[in-house]
Amino acid sequence: MKENVGFIGAGNMCQALVDGWIGKSVLKPESVFVSNRTPGKIKKLQENAHVQGCATNEELVDAANVILLTVKPQDLIAAIEPIATSFRADQIVISLAAGIQLARLRKLLPQCSHLVRVMANTPARVLRGTFAYCTRTDDLVVDLCMDRLFKPLGFTLRLEEGEPFEAFTVATSAGVGFIYEFMIYWQEWLEEHGLESEDAQQMTIQTFAGAAELALKSLPQSLSELQAKVTSKKGITAAGLESLRELEIERLLRYSFEKAALRDRELSQD
Ligand SMILES: NC(=O)c1ccc[n+]([C@@H]2O[C@H](COP(=O)([O-])OP(=O)(O)OC[C@H]3O[C@@H](n4cnc5c(N)ncnc54)[C@H](OP(=O)(O)O)[C@@H]3O)[C@@H](O)[C@H]2O)c1
Repeated sequence: MKENVGFIGAGNMCQALVDGWIGKSVLKPESVFVSNRTPGKIKKLQENAHVQGCATNEELVDAANVILLTVKPQDLIAAIEPIATSFRADQIVISLAAGIQLARLRKLLPQCSHLVRVMANTPARVLRGTFAYCTRTDDLVVDLCMDRLFKPLGFTLRLEEGEPFEAFTVATSAGVGFIYEFMIYWQEWLEEHGLESEDAQQMTIQTFAGAAELALKSLPQSLSELQAKVTSKKGITAAGLESLRELEIERLLRYSFEKAALRDRELSQD
């Protein structure tokens, strides 16, 4: 099937996916459509990625057979409700809005057979995305579409809605923000010890990217095995790790993950 893919909402997530799909030649710019509340981001995407701009969300729904809802969760109902009857039964509608459950989407678009809830993260822009999706159990159309569109941008997993999906959201989507928090302290510490800011940033990024890339290349080795390989008894890594454990980094992380999960639940209930 030839996909005409439309985005309602041309913000960060839309831009990350457009970059990934066009960069990887999964989609051609002429088959990507974008609409937005205000025109600035459409213009930018037209200039940078040569995609098709739509003046209204309704125009976009007419043009696309796969529609991604990439507005903030609090804007989703206002964006879709007025044009809900324009959606066709055979269109694949993919919501990326955090906390909006499938039941809510079904209520909003009852005529649509292929509704999908996706959780994504912005490393999709560099083909290192992590995606989870949930949909009706036997929806093979959606499975095929997810394989074709999302697999080239990273790791894709079908999950049950509920606890596994919530954990995925916290660890991989909010998780990107948590990792940047660590990276900020990493860089600051280097700067405090005399390194130039630019060098400190590069070193921090290389350390995180290098550790992650090595772990990926070393699969199926476990992370603990990899850690043991860089930790000699009584060495400097061991000394630092001992302190991290004494200060209960695990408890701190678990607490922060649970707090984020709680917020995800609150958003679902709003
Ligand atoms: N960014 C992430 O890392 C991330 C991760 C996981 C999931 N998500 C999900 O992805 C979705 C988008 O997030 P984002 O970070 O891309 O948000 P964003 O950068 O704020 O983009 C949202 C866009 O939606 C537009 N919009 C709002 N109401 C609209 C309407 N009625 N019609 C058309 N466009 C409308 C906004 O237009 P204006 O330019 O006029 O404001 C804005 O450009 C959210 O639901 C979020 O939960 C994001």
